[in-house]
Amino acid sequence: MEIVAAADSDERGLSLLKVVNVLQRVVVFVHSFTLEKLHKLGPSTSSAEMPTMREEDIAAKIKEICQELVLSQEALHEVCACLQEELNRGLAKESNPEATIKCFPTYVRELPNGKEKGRFLALDLGGTNFRVLLIELGDRCTMDSRIYAVPQPIMVGPGDGLFDHIAECLASFIKERDMGHELLPLGFTFSFPCKQEGLTKARLARWTKGFKCEGVEGRDVVDLLKQAIARRGDVKIKICAVLNDTTGTLMSCAWKNHNCRIGLIVGTGTNACYMEKLEKVELWDGDMEDPLQVVINTEWGAFGDNGCLDFVRTEYDNIIDRESINPGRQLYEKMISGMYMGEIARQVLVRLVSEGLLFGGYASDILLEKGSFFTKYISEIESDKVGDYNNCRIILEELGFNDATDAECANVRYVCECVSRRAAHLAAAGVAVLLNRIREESVTVAVDGSVYRFHPHFHNLMVEQISQLLEPGIKFDLMLSEDGSGRGAALVAAVASRSASMSAHAR
Ligand code: GLC
Repeated sequence: MEIVAAADSDERGLSLLKVVNVLQRVVVFVHSFTLEKLHKLGPSTSSAEMPTMREEDIAAKIKEICQELVLSQEALHEVCACLQEELNRGLAKESNPEATIKCFPTYVRELPNGKEKGRFLALDLGGTNFRVLLIELGDRCTMDSRIYAVPQPIMVGPGDGLFDHIAECLASFIKERDMGHELLPLGFTFSFPCKQEGLTKARLARWTKGFKCEGVEGRDVVDLLKQAIARRGDVKIKICAVLNDTTGTLMSCAWKNHNCRIGLIVGTGTNACYMEKLEKVELWDGDMEDPLQVVINTEWGAFGDNGCLDFVRTEYDNIIDRESINPGRQLYEKMISGMYMGEIARQVLVRLVSEGLLFGGYASDILLEKGSFFTKYISEIESDKVGDYNNCRIILEELGFNDATDAECANVRYVCECVSRRAAHLAAAGVAVLLNRIREESVTVAVDGSVYRFHPHFHNLMVEQISQLLEPGIKFDLMLSEDGSGRGAALVAAVASRSASMSAHAR
């Protein structure tokens, strides 16, 4: 309207007016076309009501609705206190069977010293992809790897099918490189909660992250892998270690950084491990020889499964949990990790549309589809410079909204920020608890995972929040750990063989 009034007085103005008219018609046409694919949500969404609300009022209302996703310092302190308690319950023999955070001792007792050498194979299973790696450790670390998809039917099919698939990928990797004659030590990164009974024995406690293969829970996954390889009969392997991705991440970073004591993953799932003194691990049933320490795989994703996080959980978290493959489980993980973050944002967006606060109260088919708002969208939208909505518009177009206004983009971005900030703050609370437990003057936290890696502000949000929750006198840094699941697996295998040969010498 402003353009029309200002342009009315001269010829240039008239032709501009024509252009504006044509543009307006195009907009109306496109809009009516898109409206056909949009759904009016809820009774209060009459588009006629929309223009009566000012942009500032809409933004304020959205802020109010999103407030439950904003955690106060007080709430975060309480989260820390609960986590501390749950970790203690996990580590104590008597309470462990009922504890939600299992605190599995990993049998990794030593960190690398940077001098590890040799050639290793590694297998990495923990998400929708499976990797086989050939790693050469020396002054530097070189790697050759191949990624294989794990098709959805295999993720939820019988256990034998999964291990046959792994064995097949491994065999093809070995054959492609003509390595059939070499018997290389192999580290198996299996990133699910396992009760370890040794460095090469790990019983799956339960599936997480969308896997549900029957016949694996309660079984030793190393054994299942060996059986699958034996069924094929065309390759030989020597499994030296089975480990969690958090342990791999810790080892990979500790290789060159001697302050490293914590391994953290914020990716498809979230979890952390840390080096604990044996005297604090009542659960430990291994030897009491030096070094008097062991890496504990906390499996903190299950934090909250006993209801202790209910005071920070929202209706969105409830929906996500209810509709997941493992309801009631991994509740902390469901608020933080990449498998769920996008879906939380989508739930919020749908609610805003249904309250008539976004897109004129109309939702597209795609937005209404579960899982359609990928977690990577959050990273991309927040990567736009403030006030610029380039990525945001591309994403909204993919979702079926072709003419989003700047104000709408700003609101979508705000939702993303609330969801990712909450995730970063909750993960930060977890790290602060571990740092406060370790109580060393200066500790490096090794971090990996797609959310941490690709979200433009996750690192900074975490650092700021950890500083708020840390006891005085402790310094820390968060360091991106390169390829924990590969290099880390090789290092666990290498450290294991070093420790074995040292104890053989001692005898
Ligand atoms: C899930 C798994 C855990 C893993 C984490 C990160 O929480 O249970 O073992 O470390 O995801 O991949």
